[in-house]
Amino acid sequence: MRKPAKNKWSKGEYKRAIIDQRKYLWEPEYVALLAKWAGFKQGQTVVDVGCGLGYLGTLYWPFFGRGGKYCGVDVSTKLATQAKKLSLHWAKGGKTEFKTGDAYKLPYPDNYADVVMCQTLLIHLSDAQKAINEMFRILKPGGVVLCKEPDNLSMSLQHTITSLPELPLEDELFFQKVAFISNKGNAALGLGYYNAAPRVPLWLKEAGFKKIDARINSYLMLGIPPYETEKQKYAIEYRQKLQKLYDTPNEKRKDNYEFKKIFFAGGGNRSDYVKYMKLKRKYKPRNDLYKQQVKDGTAYWFCSSQFFAIKGSKPK
Ligand SMILES: C[S@@+](CC[C@H](N)C(=O)[O-])C[C@H]1O[C@@H](n2cnc3c(N)ncnc32)[C@H](O)[C@@H]1O
Repeated sequence: MRKPAKNKWSKGEYKRAIIDQRKYLWEPEYVALLAKWAGFKQGQTVVDVGCGLGYLGTLYWPFFGRGGKYCGVDVSTKLATQAKKLSLHWAKGGKTEFKTGDAYKLPYPDNYADVVMCQTLLIHLSDAQKAINEMFRILKPGGVVLCKEPDNLSMSLQHTITSLPELPLEDELFFQKVAFISNKGNAALGLGYYNAAPRVPLWLKEAGFKKIDARINSYLMLGIPPYETEKQKYAIEYRQKLQKLYDTPNEKRKDNYEFKKIFFAGGGNRSDYVKYMKLKRKYKPRNDLYKQQVKDGTAYWFCSSQFFAIKGSKPK
């Protein structure tokens, strides 16, 4: 049996990431549409695989929670325990249950749930098909699976328009090449597919699901001066955080070793690796420029969503 993906999500920094990144991820009106589309009904039993802090529970509880049951499963006992505490704030009028468990061997019997859902889980798994087969097993006939996963590769390939000067085409294309190589490297090392989302319909079909359909998230990151809404302010700050994290890693970054491993596992060669590191150093001052623009109130960012909701039904 293959091992589950390496799990770092119980560390404090990742907890913050889980909360921060989700602040405006799904707009409430759109969640209501998706709940209808997926067929949520009050009183249902819903399993959330890789529940983290129970974020999906907070979104969909209003659509199934009256007399219903939310079951959060996570490989991290720490996160499951904390999710249980947090659920006291949002899960009213129904039952909740939190278990430590592996997506590859869900702690539920066959034909148990009306809905099985997950978010940014499959993207981290070395064998997403196996996890989806498990979701199929625990669903009742007629039950629905709802997978909300990003395509981070398309995100990296996106030519986003910001207030920063555009990169020379050659460098922009080189960064895209690095993104492709990293995506392959992640998969080769068993760290999952960064572009999991467009693969999900095929995994669902393989597991036996029917009525497969998909939607793209309605939310995109937009920050335009003078940032009239909290959401816009958030977008601008989030861009800054992202830039700090991903745009300018250097040899001193703690995860540089990880990146190096991923890059070579994806078929990258030494000269491209050296070129990449050089370019990263060259563009480091862009960080400070963006910071200054944020201070001056001139920063701009438009980045469209590459987050998807994919559903399927277990035949009756
Ligand atoms: C990116 S977080 C997403 C958490 C939550 N679904 C959300 O959207 O906020 C990924 C979660 O999957 C969990 N996870 C990773 N591998 C798992 C596995 N094999 N079985 C169950 N959970 C797993 C992690 O512990 C983490 O909580």
